[in-house]
Amino acid sequence: MTHRICLLPGDGIGPEVIDCAEQVLRSLPLNLEFSRADIGFGAYERLGSPLPDSTLIEIQSASAALFGAVTTPPNLPNYFSPVVQMRQSLELYANLRPTRSIPHASSRSNIDFVIVRENTEGLYSGIERIEDDGNRAITERVITRKGSERIIRKAFDLARQANRKSVHVVHKANVLRQTCGLFRSVALEVAQEYPDIAMHEMLVDTCAMELVRAPEQFEIIVTTNLFGDILSDEACMFVGGLGVAASANIGAVAAVFEPVHGSAPMLVGTGKANPIATFLAAAMMLEYLNEKEYGARLRNAVNECIAAEEFTPDLGGSLTTCQVTKRVINRL
Ligand code: NAI
Ligand code: MG
Repeated sequence: MTHRICLLPGDGIGPEVIDCAEQVLRSLPLNLEFSRADIGFGAYERLGSPLPDSTLIEIQSASAALFGAVTTPPNLPNYFSPVVQMRQSLELYANLRPTRSIPHASSRSNIDFVIVRENTEGLYSGIERIEDDGNRAITERVITRKGSERIIRKAFDLARQANRKSVHVVHKANVLRQTCGLFRSVALEVAQEYPDIAMHEMLVDTCAMELVRAPEQFEIIVTTNLFGDILSDEACMFVGGLGVAASANIGAVAAVFEPVHGSAPMLVGTGKANPIATFLAAAMMLEYLNEKEYGARLRNAVNECIAAEEFTPDLGGSLTTCQVTKRVINRL
């Protein structure tokens, strides 16, 4: 079966890590067809938009997309981050962030959980305003039954598929009584359909603490947009950090896989960008495309390289981006 992969290199180190991932994917005996589409600040400068319509169409018509990173200049009026826009336009409602131990001295052991973050609403719904002559700023936090139900269902389905025994529903319903209250009550309803999986509730501040104290207790965490954003960045630090953290954005009609890191402008052209986060994003993509065996192989090849200390300076090694790529391909 042929899979059509849309590559979205973006800005900064994005093109470097995407080129490496393309080489790795092409080294597998799979029928993959690649296309490329523009995204980011470079696209804005060339084409007038950081997220051209043609890019959205390309992502939707592909089997899956692999995205590098973009640069978002903070002070440019009328500029918007194409990442949030892409997630909302394509309704990529589920952000999956696996956190797994790696064979590296800095990684804690026995950790293997997934944070399932709602990706389209909550505090990132984009409804903001200024009142009182600029002295009062308001952001609306929108939580819907539909949005909550589909993300909670995704978490329980994932638990079943991966043979997990528990889902932690993380909220702050004791204070945010309406928004988190709705999220929580939908979770209690959905959980009844999954009697084989234990649902635990946890307040978000307790969860932040428990993640540091005993991260091995978690299997699946499901939560709202902002909480998931913060908890997942916190979590990646136990298992190697940004250079190895991957994520998926999944919707009903499209799926985009990406390293968690940004465009790291300081690293461009230095050969110091760690490509492993993008390789692990590619492994998630292969699993999504039902090429589970190759996803697992790629993950194993990456772990073998890490165990052999074949890595970039962020992990304490001395290999370049290209050298790590070659080692991974050799092990594949
Ligand atoms: P960043 O993730 O680019 O960098 C943070 C730190 O991690 C830096 O010290 C960087 O050198 C290091 N780092 C990042 N990726 C690495 C890799 N592959 N290998 C080794 N070290 C790596 O975040 P920062 O500096 O806050 O933002 C830079 C730009 O990226 C900004 O314009 C920001 O808006 C954008 N950004 C884009 C994201 C995306 O495209 N999804 C996500 C986060 C930030
Ligand atoms: Mg983040």
